[in-house]
Amino acid sequence: MTPVRYLTGITTTGTPHLGNYVGAIRPAVEASRRPGTENFYFLADYHALIKCDEPQRIQRSTLEIAACWLAAGLDPNQVFFYRQSDIPEIPELTWLLTCVTGKGLLNRAHAYKAQVDKNAAAGADPDADVTAGLFMYPVLMAADILLFKAHKIPVGRDQAQHIEMARDIASSFNHLYGEHLVLPEAAIDDSVSLLPGTDGRKMSKSYDNVLALFAPREQLRKQIAAIVTDSRLPGEPKEVEGSALFQIYQSFASQEETEALRKAYADGIGWGEAKQLLFERIDREIAPMRERYQALIDNPAEIERILQAGARKARAYATPFLAELRQAVGLRNLGAQPAKAKGDKAARAALPSFKQYRETDGKFSFKLVDAKGRLLLQGAAFDSPKEAAAAIARLRASPSADLAGIGTPAEGIALSEIAAALDLLASAD
Ligand code: TRP
Repeated sequence: MTPVRYLTGITTTGTPHLGNYVGAIRPAVEASRRPGTENFYFLADYHALIKCDEPQRIQRSTLEIAACWLAAGLDPNQVFFYRQSDIPEIPELTWLLTCVTGKGLLNRAHAYKAQVDKNAAAGADPDADVTAGLFMYPVLMAADILLFKAHKIPVGRDQAQHIEMARDIASSFNHLYGEHLVLPEAAIDDSVSLLPGTDGRKMSKSYDNVLALFAPREQLRKQIAAIVTDSRLPGEPKEVEGSALFQIYQSFASQEETEALRKAYADGIGWGEAKQLLFERIDREIAPMRERYQALIDNPAEIERILQAGARKARAYATPFLAELRQAVGLRNLGAQPAKAKGDKAARAALPSFKQYRETDGKFSFKLVDAKGRLLLQGAAFDSPKEAAAAIARLRASPSADLAGIGTPAEGIALSEIAAALDLLASAD
């Protein structure tokens, strides 16, 4: 069975807080260990440039966010973990997609429209503070997704429209150039908890109510002490309903621990004691990560090494796929001219060709030979001519596809020669 491929981008702005940990990082790290899945996580630093023009901050955030995910247990050997700007195929695909994307589609994007509406309300020019980067945001995001043929995109509800747009853009491309791109789907998990902040509203930097994720212990203790409670005294029973302290505790505690605190509330635990319990519970989960985080931040070259290795792993997919897409749109090797007309015998004779045949043992196979009859690829042995033909069709449809189960390159023939021969055949069709 082919694994389901999950892919998600992490915009590299700001420093993650406990709300991001509970709502995004922790569930994603858990999800990355599911069997039968392939998981791509990348630092969306090209997207960060749309919102931030301070180089130092871009660099710092990228470092901190990479360190957070690694410290939280993301295993770069098990997943694809890379930085967007290390994959030149992403901006390259962005351009191919830009050319099939209607401007009208982008006019409807929420983030762009919000800025235009804001300008209208302020009586300003509709395009004030709108860069072409903001306008193009959905196309860049579509390229992130489509380059890796991802099936499922775990995102927050606010991003659902972008995934729809990626589907639309992929459909337009496929309609024009053939079925190359996989149509992605959003995977929105409403069950993950939204952590309240210290004032009871949603935890968010813009409300200044966050609990830091990897700040020093004492800072966490101070922030927890600032959680808003009511004025009931120790000994008075307390409500768990609407208690931010209780909700935050619940996001870290086991079922039994939660029940124990519920009982303590009913029995009149003092707020000071409850805060101490919360602090200890969070610190128990976070302390080992905090240590790993600090070690990583102190060794940025190690993070850089991990990201470079991740980029190599990701590009092993991206580079051949982009070559296929370039071929599809007509950005082609000029030495490989298409046959002038179908049925033109001389031109046909100058092309590589497939020869199907039956083996002496009764199996069916094929060979790919160049125009001079030199063997390029030996097909595998198949039980029926139909299966052999299907393998040929698969090769012809994606010249840089994996050869496993299809055939093996002939002695001394590089994969790139086979791909070039297939491209030549494709351009003659
Ligand atoms: N736009 C996403 C966000 O703000 C981040 C992102 C960039 C992304 N590229 C992506 C998410 C590709 C999923 C897939 O959260």
